[in-house]
Amino acid sequence: MKRVGFVGWRGMVGSVLMDRMLAEGDFALGFEPAFFSTSQVGAPGPDVGHPTGTLRDASDVRALAEMDAVVSCQGGDYTNDLHPKLRASGWRGMWIDAASALRMKDTSVIILDPVNRALIERALARGARDFIGGNCTVSLMLMVLHGLFARGWVEWVSTMTYQAASGAGAKTMQELVAQMRAVVGAAGGLLDRDGATALELDRAVTASLAAPDFPRRELGVPLAASLIPWIDKAVDGGQSREEWKGYAETNKILGLEPPVPVDGICVRVGAMRCHSQGLTVKLTRDVPLADIEAAIRDANPWARVVPNTPEASRAELTPAAVSGTLAVPIGRLHKLKMGPEYLGAFTVGDQLLWGAAEPLRRMLRILLGAELGGGAP
Ligand code: HSE
Repeated sequence: MKRVGFVGWRGMVGSVLMDRMLAEGDFALGFEPAFFSTSQVGAPGPDVGHPTGTLRDASDVRALAEMDAVVSCQGGDYTNDLHPKLRASGWRGMWIDAASALRMKDTSVIILDPVNRALIERALARGARDFIGGNCTVSLMLMVLHGLFARGWVEWVSTMTYQAASGAGAKTMQELVAQMRAVVGAAGGLLDRDGATALELDRAVTASLAAPDFPRRELGVPLAASLIPWIDKAVDGGQSREEWKGYAETNKILGLEPPVPVDGICVRVGAMRCHSQGLTVKLTRDVPLADIEAAIRDANPWARVVPNTPEASRAELTPAAVSGTLAVPIGRLHKLKMGPEYLGAFTVGDQLLWGAAEPLRRMLRILLGAELGGGAP
């Protein structure tokens, strides 16, 4: 029986992973799960329908090396610390990781099986053992665009993102709501005062954003009633690291040679867990819109074309509509004024599902030789 170790399963991505694995019956696939902890070694393991024993020490290389596969949602620092030690010990098991630390290593495969199953299978045949989840915006963009890439229709993509607080972590989500509370605390009373104007309300909101006690420990600045046009560190060429990943990871996931340019501006907005993206796709030729929609629909069961109408866009193409689902809708599809080879589109996806946990649990199923199925949009 295969032994699979889980690290970081109590954090936000790890919790979503556990929920999805339970929902899809993954723990009934006949492997022996072992749960590791960095802080509660010896405490009882979680209830996954099977005995899991007590929690093992996530820093114990020998205990980890007993596993046939390790699934980590513990974060990049843990990966950078433990993975080299584990490999140096001679461990040849499978490492499945949500963190970006190993993503761009030559020995790593970025996993998004509805998009790059063939590349994953080739890597397995070559003996690859490190399988890493992709950046969430890249994975969500490819879930809806890979049918166009597969047909050679994409010359370049500009993606302007509207990224949710969850992408910056659980504490940022909490801070976003704390910021909303501070805004409501400062300005909400005006809503009950007869004759209070929108401009009075705005002055109260703006004053609250600037108040010294406005919650900003995580974000540094207001996100509620505002946005932040920078995500992650600065890299060369004026890009943020999040923007750099768009090009690097898209081309690695798809195995494109020569690479296709992907670039844009990544922006944090006050959504909770859905990343949205406004896309401009420069097509290699004037492909009819109906063919584009068919290619998107045929690519995988989760990509969903939303009619380019005000009603459908408002009802189906928002974080509020998509949160907590595996569907990745794309809409606003139309040719732009720049010419018939320029496609405009807007897409939304749950950052914690296809953007984080879902590819990991599916990779585990691939390694276990299990049917993929599962995951109704
Ligand atoms: N880097 C992403 C974000 C998280 O900040 O939204 C998902 O990869």
